[in-house]
Amino acid sequence: MLADDPIQTAVARALADNMNDGGGKNADYIAALASVDPTLFGISVATTGGDVFNAGDADVEFALESISKVFTMALAMEEVGAKAFRAKVGTDPTGMPFNSVLALALHADKPMSALVNAGAIASASLISATNAEDRWHKILAGQSAFAGRSLSLSDAVNASEQSTNFHNRGIAWLLYSAGFVYSDPMEACDVYTRQCSTMVTTADLAVMGATLASGGINPLTKTRVIRAENVPHILAEMTMEGLYEASGDWAYTVGLPGKSGVGGGIVCVVPGRLAIAAFSPRLDQFGNSVRAQAAITQIAAEQELNLYLAG
Ligand code: DON
Repeated sequence: MLADDPIQTAVARALADNMNDGGGKNADYIAALASVDPTLFGISVATTGGDVFNAGDADVEFALESISKVFTMALAMEEVGAKAFRAKVGTDPTGMPFNSVLALALHADKPMSALVNAGAIASASLISATNAEDRWHKILAGQSAFAGRSLSLSDAVNASEQSTNFHNRGIAWLLYSAGFVYSDPMEACDVYTRQCSTMVTTADLAVMGATLASGGINPLTKTRVIRAENVPHILAEMTMEGLYEASGDWAYTVGLPGKSGVGGGIVCVVPGRLAIAAFSPRLDQFGNSVRAQAAITQIAAEQELNLYLAG
């Protein structure tokens, strides 16, 4: 790819223009995330043609966290079909924090969205598996197929999360009591916690998003990862719930389906064209990276990527 490609220029400019934004703070409820260098900042764009443009710390690995929910949703939908997935997990935004028990209480303990913790635990439980290791390896293989390389879990992040995930265990038992978890609830919670601990770079994350942008085919490996017909359902859910309570504002201002994680990553998808991934650990009050949001907002505006723009 050419250094003077307009996308490379936009990625480099977004990094430079937002580098000095010191707003937000690292997630502190997971010790391994609190200690990540807050100055890290990486941006990548991957196109459906297989080009990858990088700037800053695009080769530094960070924890996928909630972004993993997209890929487990995709795998579960692949197994049970979009209609059954909607009945078993739900496909509406909650408008509440990602770990809200109140959102469950308001909907007879149905998760409503695969992109909140309850729905992600339910999604993990839907994948057919003989035990926790089998379930985990299917999810990791799915994440790796989206990225086009073999990903791995951080033992430090996983240990840190497993020792503090009591709230998520509570959610799993609530789901179990109402019939919305489809395996042993603690196994589902364990595997959900592991999937959050997978490490990626922004270059990986951009390729994962570009796999959705190209209708389920990884643009690097050229292999089909999920059915094309499921992709619009996933992108719709990302639009409605991908940045939690900020999802509506994100659609209003940026106009792209996206997903954030408390590790500081965000990925946004432009169907048929590309995906933008950015990473910076400092988060706003909703758990969304301050500089990743700013960088993606800038690139989307400059390149006129808003899906709601005519022509
Ligand atoms: O369940 C949790 O608390 C984390 N492992 C993931 C949450 C997360 O990333 C929410 N994101 N913005």
